Amino acid sequence: MSRINLEVLLVLGLLLVTAKQSMQMSLRNPTAEIESSLCKIGFLRLGLVLTSENSEKALLDSDLFKADSADSYVDIVGRRFHVGRLNNTPVVYVKTGTGSVNVATAVQTLLIRFRLSGIIFFGNAGSLDENVLVPGDVVVPEAVAFTGVWEWKEFRAQNKGKLVFGNYNYPVNGENLLGTAAPQNITLYSQSEDPEEVFWLPVSSSWYEVATEELKDLNLKECYSGKCLSGTPKVVFGSKASTSDFYVKNKAYGDFLLKKFNASTTDSASAAVALTSLSNRKPFVVFQGVSNVVGVKSSDSESGYLASYNAFLAATKFINSIPTPRLACE
Ligand SMILES: *[C@@H]1O[C@H](CO)[C@@H](O)[C@H](O)[C@H]1NC(C)=O
Ligand SMILES: *[C@@H]1O[C@H](CO)[C@@H](O)[C@H](O)[C@H]1NC(C)=O
Repeated sequence: MSRINLEVLLVLGLLLVTAKQSMQMSLRNPTAEIESSLCKIGFLRLGLVLTSENSEKALLDSDLFKADSADSYVDIVGRRFHVGRLNNTPVVYVKTGTGSVNVATAVQTLLIRFRLSGIIFFGNAGSLDENVLVPGDVVVPEAVAFTGVWEWKEFRAQNKGKLVFGNYNYPVNGENLLGTAAPQNITLYSQSEDPEEVFWLPVSSSWYEVATEELKDLNLKECYSGKCLSGTPKVVFGSKASTSDFYVKNKAYGDFLLKKFNASTTDSASAAVALTSLSNRKPFVVFQGVSNVVGVKSSDSESGYLASYNAFLAATKFINSIPTPRLACE
């Protein structure tokens, strides 16, 4: 093939690729646009993040999510980003999978690929304080932290960590070769700011305030599949939430989290959503459905689902109570 022919082919190929991309852009539209006679008015969507099958089932069962069209989704590195409306508010939702790496990767992808005004997360969590939080309740924490990031000290280190394994020897306390572990800060990177060492990641205050106002009288679901909760579920505000990559079922460790950090819940996603949103300087809010009490009861499938559903109800009420930001004519 001559050099000229090759160049022509290359140019043609490029044109085709460009055409295909722009078709996709308008079909699966990151910035939703409303055509008017004078200009296009854009608006920002909300990013809705969930981790599990159960959470997605709650969303789909509700019938409140309407995809913009049959193919209004985008697949990016193995995850599907669904573009549509939740009770008329424009959203993009993604199921991230579990584990902080999966959650952070999916939230970052969401923020890079779509024009969003912020991130709403809903998912399940374990209660660390049975006196306050029982299965079916929804928690709107004020701050979340990674509590599973440790410096694991040497046996008999001078400078001990807060978690002293010997204190948990059974039946009597004593020395333990596991020594102690010191919970660590995490580095928050963000544009045009120096990296910062942080522990608590505060939920965006303006959104937190909207949530406390709008959700205080929210009616939650009490029964599912013939099984009902023992009491009327409630929404609880202002607590702290702990996130780690280990699933906490151990009562002694749960008590440690409650006592040392005053954390009321434990999950494996919220802090990853928080850190990624803060890095991107986007507002975020977290809704946790309580599925079990750590060390007391393991989650049965009905209360697990009710937790997901109630967290979804809270997220939906919140989403429908904040205005959709409009962009100027483009
Ligand atoms: C962790 O960050 C907090 C601020 O969030 C700071 O007060 C504290 O000194 C830091 N701790 C360490 C060990 O760097
Ligand atoms: C611990 O958290 C609860 C809310 O979950 C709050 O009412 C209480 O004041 C906190 N205690 C401390 C010592 O910060």
